Amino acid sequence: MSTLLEQLSTLRTETAEDIRQAQDEEALASVFSAVLGRQGRLTQILRGLGSLPREERPEAGRAGNECKRFLEDLHAERRGELANLAISEELSAEGIDVTLPGRPWTLGKLHPSTVALREIYTIFRGLGFSIYEGREVESDEYNFELLNMPPGHPARDMWDTFYTTAPGIILRTHTSPGQIHAMREYAPNPIRIILPGKVYRHEDVTARAESQFYQVEGLVVGRTISLSDLKGTVQHFADRIYGSGRRVRFRKSYFPFTEPSVEVDIDCMLCRAQGCRICKYTGWLEIMGAGMVHPKVLANGGYDPAEWSGFAFGMGPERVAMLKYAITDIRLFYTNDARFLEQMV
Ligand code: PHE
Repeated sequence: MSTLLEQLSTLRTETAEDIRQAQDEEALASVFSAVLGRQGRLTQILRGLGSLPREERPEAGRAGNECKRFLEDLHAERRGELANLAISEELSAEGIDVTLPGRPWTLGKLHPSTVALREIYTIFRGLGFSIYEGREVESDEYNFELLNMPPGHPARDMWDTFYTTAPGIILRTHTSPGQIHAMREYAPNPIRIILPGKVYRHEDVTARAESQFYQVEGLVVGRTISLSDLKGTVQHFADRIYGSGRRVRFRKSYFPFTEPSVEVDIDCMLCRAQGCRICKYTGWLEIMGAGMVHPKVLANGGYDPAEWSGFAFGMGPERVAMLKYAITDIRLFYTNDARFLEQMV
C-alpha cells in the first residue's frame, strides 16, 4: 500500500514537471498519453487497484483519482497557455503593413426604375404637381366600372387582369383607378397630381411586356382645362426628359375614361428621327396614352362635368428609361442582374 501511494506521489511530481516543461502541443500530447493515455502509467496503476486487498482499495482509489484529476487540470491549463503563446507569436511574426491600401466600399445604386421615377417626379414637381399614391389591390369597381367600363364592356380586354379569390378584388391593371380616389378626396377643388405605382397584368412575359411594371398617371382637373394644356404639359415633359426641341404629336386613340383620347408620340432621339430598330423605322416613339377626362368619370369623382374639365395621361417609367438608354428588353428591370443594373446610373 505505502509503495503504491509513493508511486503515485512520484508520478504526480514528475508528470507535473513534464507538463510545465512542454514547449508545444505535440510535446504536451506525448506527456499526456504516456501517463493518462490508454496504456499510460497512471491508467495502469488505476487498473491494478482491483488486485489490492479489499480494505486498502478505498484509500488507494481516492488517491489515484485525485492524482488523475490534478494532472488532467494541469494539462488543460498548459494547453491553453500554449495556444495563447502560439497566437501571440504568430501576430508578432506577421507585423502590419500600414502601406497597404484600404479595401474600397462598394456603394449601392438606385434601380433604373427608381431613377426614371424620380426624374419624372422632379419634372412634374416643377409644374406644381403633387404626388398622390393609390393602392395596388383594387376593386373591379374602381379599376373598371367607375372608369366607364361596366361589366362585360369590351374595352376591358385591353387589360389582362389578375383576379383574387375575393369577389370583385383584383390587382390594379393601371394607375387610372387612383383618379377616382383622388377626385373623391379633392372634390370640389382643382387637382394637379401625378399618381405613380406598380401595376399588374396577366400577360406572357416577353422583351416588350412584363406582368408587373410601374406607371405614372397624371390628372389635372379645373374649370378651364383644355387639350392644349395637355399638349403643353407633354411638350414640356418631353423636352425635360429627352432634351429640348422634341417634336410631339397626338394620334387619335380610344380609352373609355377619356374623350377624346390620344396616344402621344415624340420624335425618336436615338436615330434623330431617321428610323431605327427602337422606333421600328417610323422615326416616332410612343410615350403615353392620354386624353380629356370623360364626363362620366368626372361625375363619378364628384365633379359636375358642365363646370369642370380635366386631362389625364398614363406612362410607363420603364419605357421612358428604355427609350432614353436604348434598352431593348423590359425583363432586365426585374431579373436583378447586377451587370445590367450597374451600367444604368
Ligand atoms: N390607363 C391607361 C393604360 O394603362 C393609360 C391612360 C391613362 C390613358 C390616362 C388615358 C388617360 O393603358
